[in-house]
Amino acid sequence: MLEKIKQMLAEVDSLQAKTADEVEALRIKYLSKKGEITALMNDFRLVPAEQKKQVGIAINELKNRALERINGLKQACATQDTEQDDLDLSRTAYPIDLGTRHPLTLVKNEIIDIFARLGFSLAEGPEVEDDWHVFSSMNFPDDHPARDMQDTFFVESHPDIILRTHTSSVQARVMERQQPPIRVICPGRVYRNEAISARAHCFFHQVEGLYVDKDVSFTDLKQVLLLFAKEMFGNDTKIRLRPSYFPFTEPSAEMDVSCTICGGKGCAMCKGSGWLEILGCGMVHPNVLAANGIDPTQYKGYAFGMGIERIANLKYQVKDLRLFSENDVRFLREFEAAN
Ligand code: DAH
Repeated sequence: MLEKIKQMLAEVDSLQAKTADEVEALRIKYLSKKGEITALMNDFRLVPAEQKKQVGIAINELKNRALERINGLKQACATQDTEQDDLDLSRTAYPIDLGTRHPLTLVKNEIIDIFARLGFSLAEGPEVEDDWHVFSSMNFPDDHPARDMQDTFFVESHPDIILRTHTSSVQARVMERQQPPIRVICPGRVYRNEAISARAHCFFHQVEGLYVDKDVSFTDLKQVLLLFAKEMFGNDTKIRLRPSYFPFTEPSAEMDVSCTICGGKGCAMCKGSGWLEILGCGMVHPNVLAANGIDPTQYKGYAFGMGIERIANLKYQVKDLRLFSENDVRFLREFEAAN
């Protein structure tokens, strides 16, 4: 027995392992319930009484030396692992999870791009606005229903300060600081006091367009909008203008495009009509030019305004408006290809 222990001591002292798995295999081989050293300890009871002391000391030493060696190997493996992690500068970088552009940003950028090619530059204005820029300068009469608390968010402590309900307010911001020729588009967020549902939200996004110069006509407006519709929805797209009313334009119109799904034959998307409404437009009302310091006897202008969510819906058939503001990455990832 003593001979066996001596042999095993030499064996244990020269144990080697390169990985944590190999260390664990050694632990099992020597020290587990069925391990070789454990077996020796079990045989201890067979040792004759006069040898018990000597053998006992030897077995204990063997066990301690095995424990020491195996724990030492274990630690060496652990530090080796972290050293490699820190020092291997040639290791491939961890992948960085990139996001995607929001569908509304994609559509907004596309609109900006199309009008940029027609010479329109970008303009912006504040979302927290005053009554003058949103309503009065846009020729809204004092008793117009849009000024009602039911449609507009007011700042509680200041009845004159509101969240803008449309980007038409940026028209006023541009005209008050710049004389014609003016050619701008103004994208931005707008707010209305609506209950949130699949079809309405208390905030959404619009793009406003404004063109003011000498000799601007309704024909110019129509041609620019036709070109926009073709660029946005495809070359076969047709447009139609229906007479409408806005306080800030005269004459005013609403524009439909031929249905993006059926091309005009009639389907569920266009409710059988073949047409989809996409924007409001018209010739800038002389009162609006005058209110913003531009001489209406010298200059004329056209304007238009469209909802970005509306255009995104027509392009991507998003059924529920709420998806645009929930930021569920499963939804956002669906637009990865369009990025
Ligand atoms: N401001 C209108 C709205 O929010 C949209 C609009 C209609 C803008 C006609 C215009 C326009 O510039 O000419 O519904």
